[in-house]
Amino acid sequence: MKKLLILNGPNLNFLGIREPSIYGGNSYEALCGMIRTHAEELGVEVKIFQSNHEGALVDELQAAYGVMDGIVFNPAAYTHTSVAILDAVKAIGIPTVEVHISDVSKREDFRQISYVRAACVKTISGHGLNGYLEAMDYLVKGV
Ligand code: DQA
Repeated sequence: MKKLLILNGPNLNFLGIREPSIYGGNSYEALCGMIRTHAEELGVEVKIFQSNHEGALVDELQAAYGVMDGIVFNPAAYTHTSVAILDAVKAIGIPTVEVHISDVSKREDFRQISYVRAACVKTISGHGLNGYLEAMDYLVKGV
């Protein structure tokens, strides 16, 4: 059975509380529920992890090496700042889909840079929480 890591960066544990006009009213727990249900439908195993700390995300990426078959990754604000996260995704060589709930291409200039994108097989941005499920589909079915 395929194993997917669903990785979320800073402030995503505050979904439903933080800027609902941008990120929607659903909680992080609701997102985890959607992911688990979809994993059952796809017949895959998922590990879901969130951290507000850059190093903890790097640790989790390294722990995925040789264990996970794919990664759905919303690095949140670290998307726009972290070479360490880019290097970690490059190092482990696991197909990784970059996900953003909001459409970052239509937001502030500082969100136009994504360091991690260079190491990702696909980017899904602006599809809300559904983007996570689309990323899972892509990693499992290739579409
Ligand atoms: C985000 C977009 C980032 O710019 C922001 O820092 C986030 C969330 C998104 O899911 O739309 O925290 O990754």
